[in-house]
Amino acid sequence: MSYIEIRNIFKIFGPNPKSALELAKAGSDKDEILAATGHTVGLHDVSLSIEQGETFVVMGLSGSGKSTLIRHLNRLIDPTSGEISFGGEDILAMDIPTLNAFRRKRLGMVFQRFGLLPHRNVMDNVAYGLEIQGQPRKIREAAAAKWIERVGLAGYEAKFPDQLSGGMQQRVGLARALATDPEVLLMDEAFSALDPLIRSDMQDELMKLQTELHKTIVFITHDLDEALKLGDRIAILKDGKLIQVGRPEEIVLHPADDYVKAFTRDVNRGRVLRARSVMQPISDQAPTEQMTENKINHDTPLDEIIPYFLGSTEAQPFAVVDRDGGIVGTIGRDNLLDVLNR
Ligand SMILES: Nc1ncnc2c1ncn2[C@@H]1O[C@H](COP(=O)(O)OP(=O)(O)O)[C@@H](O)[C@H]1O
Ligand SMILES: [Mg+2]
Repeated sequence: MSYIEIRNIFKIFGPNPKSALELAKAGSDKDEILAATGHTVGLHDVSLSIEQGETFVVMGLSGSGKSTLIRHLNRLIDPTSGEISFGGEDILAMDIPTLNAFRRKRLGMVFQRFGLLPHRNVMDNVAYGLEIQGQPRKIREAAAAKWIERVGLAGYEAKFPDQLSGGMQQRVGLARALATDPEVLLMDEAFSALDPLIRSDMQDELMKLQTELHKTIVFITHDLDEALKLGDRIAILKDGKLIQVGRPEEIVLHPADDYVKAFTRDVNRGRVLRARSVMQPISDQAPTEQMTENKINHDTPLDEIIPYFLGSTEAQPFAVVDRDGGIVGTIGRDNLLDVLNR
């Protein structure tokens, strides 16, 4: 079983959700249910398994149900029907004190509008979660100082939020979420309000932190480039329904329908696709002498491989090796052209 299990969640907004639920379960879609009952379908039979330590991205157009989904994970809202568990524990069965402890100790949240407390300085904002937990001042300030340093804000401890740029404020938001050492980070469009360059810096920062922390991160975005960059796996929502779940290269190479295809059309394939997703597996063929001289790691982006083949039509194929150095496949000029043209 995965760490977070979401089973057959329906969420219907409106005064009499049960009546609309029957329609949804019988197969009516969001538009039909709105027309027939005036109820809005937030989520329609969504099931997902999220692994411990993965960065799981939820993507979709505005109104597709992304925020509704993440609000179920901290139980800001309850499903009309369905089940949700964390580490085998049914979070929908938690009573109020258990739920409050669950939110305080096991979840960290980063919001689009930063959500900082304006009358507290950086130190006190970052230490806030530990203060709520009742930790003594010395301990919480030591932890906060550590996280302020980790996100690159050492020296800014005494500044107030309105003295910081948007990017710096979101670094404070990230430090605050991490200071309580939560199991799960929930990030709803956390970088969407930032300028493109700052946004890219924050993505890099999050990825750097994640290689050390291995948190379970549920990250919401409407931006496919961001999803492809950050996600170990990506779930795509449309009108409350789950359309596709997969690794970035699966989404790009095999979009499930026209909705996903429309997102992926303008993607830079050379940056997203990796050697392993276009190689010819070794089981299909025997490596030659020349191939084994040129080795590349299976995670190498195609952008780094293409120039080699552009330089010469005689360029020999690469052997692709996995993390342990074993040869798992080969890549030649033809494999690359095939995928880039497709
Ligand atoms: N509290 C609410 N009351 C009524 N409808 C809501 C509520 N929250 C969300 N919705 C509706 O549910 C759908 C999904 O919304 P949301 O999860 O906010 O989408 P996203 O985050 O992908 O933009 C939308 O049609 C939205 O209007
Ligand atoms: Mg939203």
